[in-house]
Amino acid sequence: MFIKKEELNLNTLPKHIAFIIDGNGRWAKKRGMPRSFGHKMGMQTVKKIVTDCYDLGIKVVSIFAFSAENWKRPKKEVDYLFNLFYEYLTKNKSLFLEKNIQFRVMGDYTKLPKDLSDEIESVINLTKNNSKLILNIGINYGGQDEILRAVNLAIKDGKELLTKEDFENYLFTKNLSNPDLIIRTSGEERLSNFMLWQCAYSELYFTKTYWPSFNKKQLEKALINYQKRNRKFGAIKEE
Ligand code: FPP
Repeated sequence: MFIKKEELNLNTLPKHIAFIIDGNGRWAKKRGMPRSFGHKMGMQTVKKIVTDCYDLGIKVVSIFAFSAENWKRPKKEVDYLFNLFYEYLTKNKSLFLEKNIQFRVMGDYTKLPKDLSDEIESVINLTKNNSKLILNIGINYGGQDEILRAVNLAIKDGKELLTKEDFENYLFTKNLSNPDLIIRTSGEERLSNFMLWQCAYSELYFTKTYWPSFNKKQLEKALINYQKRNRKFGAIKEE
């Protein structure tokens, strides 16, 4: 029997894809390697998937790289992750300029080691006018913290009654569209405090694949699955 291969429709791709990259540690453990090796390979996957999204013409890619709760991990692992971020930025900033990629951060990066927070700030400034793809990284990020921070900033500004649009201007994602699709790897099926305001109408996609093994083929599978969904945003829509 001939089974027709499902194809990706390049005209109905999501504008914004957010990734909860999970499973680096388990991926490494399965191979008898230290967790740090999983993170190193996870970083390679970040680079590859961002390139794949870029090539597809996705406009915004968000990545949950370090949660406000990840500080609870052993200092050695946290330091290793910060070194990876630093290396990623120093190695990729010229590519961001060349490819017209804007680098943004969600989360309080000022609490990170000074060399890293200085580098983040510099790359944000360097790429702020770029527009082909926005790469939005969650570092020291938590969705509840973000909402609380927005409320407090609004109070500080003397606001009393806010519209949805006013409120969104106080979020880290100011001027960004909300994620159309959130992909979480590693088999966990929860949001873990990620983009809680912004996920209101996001389609969720979970895969058992550990992040370092996630690849272009799997991204396409997730996108084909997304394209079959009937997004209604609360309204009635014909199938
Ligand atoms: C989840 O796997 C991964 C993390 C908490 C950190 C991931 C960060 C990177 C690979 C660096 C990415 C950097 C940029 C700039 C995007 P886990 O350790 O929770 O895996 P486990 O659940 O199997 O233990």
